[in-house]
Amino acid sequence: MTYADTITIDSLERDPYPIYARLRREEPLIPVPAANCWFATRWKDIEAINRSPDFTAASDDAPVNEAFGRPNVLTSEGPDHTALRTGIDAHYKPKKVAGYIEALVRPIAEAQLAAFRASDDNDLMSLYFEPISALSLARSFGLTEVDVATLRRWFHGLSQGAINFERDPARAADCARAVAEIEAILLPFLARLAQNPDGSPLSHLLHSGIEEGKTRAPEYILPTVKVTLLGGMQEPGHGAGSTLTGLLANPEQLQDLRQNLDTLLPQAIDEGLRWVAPIGTMMRTALRDTMVNDIPVPEGAAVSCIMASANRDEARFPEPDSFNIHRPQTAHMSFGAGAHFCAGKWFAKAQIEIALRVLFEACPDLRLAGAAPDFRGWEFRAPTSLRIVKPAS
Ligand code: HEM
Repeated sequence: MTYADTITIDSLERDPYPIYARLRREEPLIPVPAANCWFATRWKDIEAINRSPDFTAASDDAPVNEAFGRPNVLTSEGPDHTALRTGIDAHYKPKKVAGYIEALVRPIAEAQLAAFRASDDNDLMSLYFEPISALSLARSFGLTEVDVATLRRWFHGLSQGAINFERDPARAADCARAVAEIEAILLPFLARLAQNPDGSPLSHLLHSGIEEGKTRAPEYILPTVKVTLLGGMQEPGHGAGSTLTGLLANPEQLQDLRQNLDTLLPQAIDEGLRWVAPIGTMMRTALRDTMVNDIPVPEGAAVSCIMASANRDEARFPEPDSFNIHRPQTAHMSFGAGAHFCAGKWFAKAQIEIALRVLFEACPDLRLAGAAPDFRGWEFRAPTSLRIVKPAS
């Protein structure tokens, strides 16, 4: 019996970090029966896996395949991956994002702040960060009519399918409900875009890189649209919430930040994303019997590369569990690695920056109302709520 045999999904959901720390020390690359896959927990092993030709992201076991369908950008390689990725990249390259992000996100953030002030509730996650995140992505996709309650229902449902490593029927049903709702809206929308391209990311996915006058079938791009909707709508809001939680727990850092917002805000966001990776894992499969830094891995092994653990690897980050916006800038792994590196990194970071700026401008005395927030999750992790003393109107 190994330590990994004793790990439960519930203990991972509550607090995976002590578990990852022990795995890094004792069993850094090992099968974890409760999760139906191997765990790679050290930075150096995850880096090696992502560089190795012996591993592929085209995993048959990834829950996203069952939940969203194939081919999808995350679990395809070769021509399918290139086609799907090119369609997304067109709208989310750094220069392109810089040209539209302020005009897109600031009005959304200001409207959400007004709604937050008017509400009886004081939870920034559900009333501020998640709505900004969902609306920004949806509006950038050209989905101008879908309201925030629907979008939040979508990403909560989709996330249940994406993390369903244990094949829980209740999670599968939640996801199936969201998928049915998304398809009912998106299929007619995509059919219209196929006839009338409009330069939006969905339109690019249908039309870019293929012969003039031809389009990809909406059914072909739909699994990728679901992947992007989930990551794109959920993660920036969660990253913003974790970053602010770290700052509120360290008031002297928050004060430094306010005094040097332009220089310190981008690195505070990177520190928030390192400290709590919004997406904790990425799945790779061994194509043949292989070795990873002298540890044998058999052909067919599905390996969950745990970026959340790599980001807390003491071999790379001194005092890895502490939140410190002044730590030397060393790249973290929260946006993944290799060919499947996040397509929305620049959009996400710029969006979090605007959401935090709007909040700081409106709330000179930002404080928690009550205890520090609880976090939950291992594949996806974020504060379950983030309650602050409301600013005067
Ligand atoms: C803080 C926010 C975000 C985080 C932490 C994040 C994280 C990640 C990670 C870790 C991966 C790699 C997964 C893997 O290799 O299995 C990924 C891929 C991806 N992300 Fe993000 N993401 C974020 C925001 C976004 C946004 C806003 C978009 C919207 C454009 C987006 C679109 C994608 C896409 C399309 C992929 C698949 C890339 C591929 O397979 O080639 N992400 N993201």
